[in-house]
Amino acid sequence: MRKWVLAVAMIAAGPTVAMSADADAGKTIFNKCKACHQVGKNGVGPHLDGVVGRKAASVEGYNYSEALKKSDITWDEAALDKWITDPKKDVPGTKMIFAGIKDPDDRANLIEYLKTLK
Ligand code: HEC
Repeated sequence: MRKWVLAVAMIAAGPTVAMSADADAGKTIFNKCKACHQVGKNGVGPHLDGVVGRKAASVEGYNYSEALKKSDITWDEAALDKWITDPKKDVPGTKMIFAGIKDPDDRANLIEYLKTLK
């Protein structure tokens, strides 16, 4: 029985190919962002309502870094994926101090959740 459980755990932890993104799982990952990002109002970071498809540095009343203002990014899924992997590498000079999320599935789930924020 123990061995069987272990085998299942190993399969589950193995490389997941084309797993569909899961907004519920993404909501949990969003806890990492909540210290700075709220929905509906700006905090340390700008609010993230409707961020998917939004132009970077476009929330009125939020004081963005020059680096992000000049980035000319539109936050589509690919751009968000790159940003969340390593914001400082993506946009040197950004004031988002965040180590990044290295797991591609975690990022995919998180982006799926961000899509639900209207
Ligand atoms: C320690 C605080 C902090 C954490 C944690 C953080 N952010 Fe940020 N975020 C910021 C700040 C500050 C900015 C503004 C960056 C700038 O102006 O250079 C920002 C900007 C952004 C932007 C660009 C928004 C725009 O309007 O252009 C996105 C998207 C974003 N963050 C997503 C996330 C996500 C998703 C997470 C969680 C995985 C996260 N952030 C975690 C502080 C944080």
